[in-house]
Amino acid sequence: MLDMLQQLEATALGILVRESLYGFPVLVGLHILGLALSVGTLLWFDLRLAGLVLRDVPVTRVYRRLIPWASAGFLSMGVTGVMLFTGYAAAAYANPFFRLKLLAMALAGANALYYHFVTEPSAASWEQQAVPPASARAAGIISLALWAIVILCGRAMAYTMY
Ligand code: HEM
Repeated sequence: MLDMLQQLEATALGILVRESLYGFPVLVGLHILGLALSVGTLLWFDLRLAGLVLRDVPVTRVYRRLIPWASAGFLSMGVTGVMLFTGYAAAAYANPFFRLKLLAMALAGANALYYHFVTEPSAASWEQQAVPPASARAAGIISLALWAIVILCGRAMAYTMY
């Protein structure tokens, strides 16, 4: 595994991220901008599910309006994150905050899948409600908590990886 990670660090991209003057700071900047577009947008859908904002707007309308933007943001997080990873693959892989970050992202994905396949199919019967049923509220609150963990771990990596 270490061999593979070191080969990744030795690629042209890995060297660019690690050794060029602007590679890493520009990528971290783009990573943070992507954060604003991804979690920063999803946040409002999760708060609607929790019955805290946009209470007069049907849940699925909020979803349809916000998710294209959030999806673009998540795509940019994936791309910039993997690029950042290539520069410091071995250090990131060994970092407990990076591992917790990936675990929290996987759990956030599972929570979203559960919402889409188990909770959302009945949305027509409750989406007009100011406060959605407990399963929908739980999906929103769990999502908020998990993405907060992802962000805090991303930040903690900067202090513990080098
Ligand atoms: C939507 C998902 C993601 C979120 C919300 C997120 C969030 C963050 C945050 C807040 C930082 C700290 C930036 C800073 O230093 O100020 C960060 C850094 C980082 N992230 Fe992500 N990230 C995500 C996805 C990924 C992915 C998929 C990877 C790689 C597979 C990744 C790899 C990294 C790396 C290597 C750093 C650099 C740590 C440093 O600053 O030294 N991230 N991330």
